[in-house]
Amino acid sequence: MCGIICYLGQRPAVPLLMDGLRRLEYRGYDSSGLAVFSNGSIESERALGKIKALEERLQGKRWPARGGIAHTRWATHGEPSERNAHPHRDCTSSIFLIHNGIIENYQQIKNRLVAKDHQFASETDTEVLTHLVEDHYRGDLVEAVEQALRQVRGAFGIAVMCRQEPDKIVLARRGSPLIIGVRNGEVFAASDVAALVSHTKNVIYLEDNDIAVLTPSQYDIFNLDGADTLNRIETVVDWDVREAEKQGYEHFMLKEIYDQPASIKNALRGRLIEDEGTAKLGGLAPVKDQVLDMDRLIIVSCGTSYYAGLIGRSVIESCTEIGVDVDLASEFRYRRLNLKSGTIVLAISQSGETADTLAAVREAERKGVPVLGMVNVVGSSIARETLAGVYNHAGPEIGVASTKSFTSQVAVLYLVSLLLGRRHRMSVSEGQAFIREFKSIPEKVALILEQADHIRQVARKYRRFKNFLFVGRQLSYPVALEGALKLKEISYLHAEAYAAGEMKHGPIALIDENFPSVCIAPRDSSREKMISNIQEIKARRGPVLGIANQGDAQMAHICDDLIEVPACDELFTPFLTVVPLQLLAYYIARENGCEIDQPRNLAKSVTVE
Ligand code: M6R
Repeated sequence: MCGIICYLGQRPAVPLLMDGLRRLEYRGYDSSGLAVFSNGSIESERALGKIKALEERLQGKRWPARGGIAHTRWATHGEPSERNAHPHRDCTSSIFLIHNGIIENYQQIKNRLVAKDHQFASETDTEVLTHLVEDHYRGDLVEAVEQALRQVRGAFGIAVMCRQEPDKIVLARRGSPLIIGVRNGEVFAASDVAALVSHTKNVIYLEDNDIAVLTPSQYDIFNLDGADTLNRIETVVDWDVREAEKQGYEHFMLKEIYDQPASIKNALRGRLIEDEGTAKLGGLAPVKDQVLDMDRLIIVSCGTSYYAGLIGRSVIESCTEIGVDVDLASEFRYRRLNLKSGTIVLAISQSGETADTLAAVREAERKGVPVLGMVNVVGSSIARETLAGVYNHAGPEIGVASTKSFTSQVAVLYLVSLLLGRRHRMSVSEGQAFIREFKSIPEKVALILEQADHIRQVARKYRRFKNFLFVGRQLSYPVALEGALKLKEISYLHAEAYAAGEMKHGPIALIDENFPSVCIAPRDSSREKMISNIQEIKARRGPVLGIANQGDAQMAHICDDLIEVPACDELFTPFLTVVPLQLLAYYIARENGCEIDQPRNLAKSVTVE
């Protein structure tokens, strides 16, 4: 949610900052801007809309800049507009500041500053912070930032520069990620490693209440609450820069859908012990006994990660006696939970930065239960704040619509189920059968991807509808929820998902010839009931698109259109049934000319509550 990139070194800064912004655009894209040190002054430019608009504004500008800060915005306070775009400046155009996060007490601070004659040009909370730094500035930017931040409530990742102190950028974080990247004679900073990996893999993750001072080729980190210099460990990022590029695909979302056979394999790599019919999750080693002995698991997550959690619940419950709750992270904190010993909380988050999930992690920690994390982004806040956890190793996911992170999260939850199942009632041979089936999944996903042309034809037929109902039972219900989410977020068509058994309790009233249903009905133990539900829809002239196993003649007969998936054990169907729904959403959005990787109003990493 908003992206930050900064550079200080010997190379021309503007192209480097623009490259960083392009790589961060998925984090927010309603306006952008930059400020650079140039000939003893600071030059700045901002534009409404995509990064392309800023590129156009910069054409013909030949600033001899070797350092600066840049930002791509996802609006919170103040509509998307040029004057609300970052960087914001103080009254004398000396201090320039970019900010991710939200300043909660900005109105009180603004009132005080207005009374002192500060002139405001935007509706943003960020501009308030800029003037607050100005208010404290007595010739030392670091000191002014420190004093300003002491008065601020909320979340921030900021980068500040000052005309009187060239070649210096001050960073600070609380609740919004910032990473420093170092390379010979150059220093970078960004809100996201994706913006750094093409330049350097040596990074330092700032922690909450860190303040860092960058000068070309050097950085110093202090604590906002005291002056001590901190030694933060330099980490080497294991991302391949190519993974964060489209590699010839038209969109990141399509590339990431096609990444799935590999990303599912990566989730399993080195984690299956075939002889013993079990799983090994190195990240859980420090809490192994607590995990194996738990009797209650609470999964907290949001959006797609929440739907992965719902699948995890069914699978863990089918392999163990452990009671599993799945909570929306944004609601978890409001519950009056009695968390007894034996309970573990698991936070699932692709980005590891989702504010609601992070708040749930902190609430659970306050209640004294062990909190584990499952995240994709290494070094992210949730990875660092949880006791132990498992990485997805799905590689960077850039498309705002989650695809490969979903199947990867599901894969890790199956590994957890296997590990726990073997502790509970699963025999060695059952564990081995589980592993055999699991290992066949990536190839089966690849077979579904070969049907992309057929799915595209289906999408052409269904693109004209404005409303969709997605239904499934048992493990296909969370898949229906995820399919509906994919469609609505990238095509802006109304789609809602129900457990198929709930249809008769209300939603069936919607059905007519203009309201199609996507019915997920693989050959599983509830297939007969799904067939009845489909008959009920057909009886009301509702068009039906079925997702069924290959060679299912009955489904072929009753559905208007069919997408087939290979047969597999009932437990593993979500891996296969979700992929056609991802492609369906993708092709409908593409046929309708929608912005696929950067859908309106959304951003990849949701760092506000
Ligand atoms: O990074 P997280 O997994 O914590 O993100 C949670 C949701 O914002 C996310 O899953 C969102 O629903 C998807 N990007 C939608 O496709």
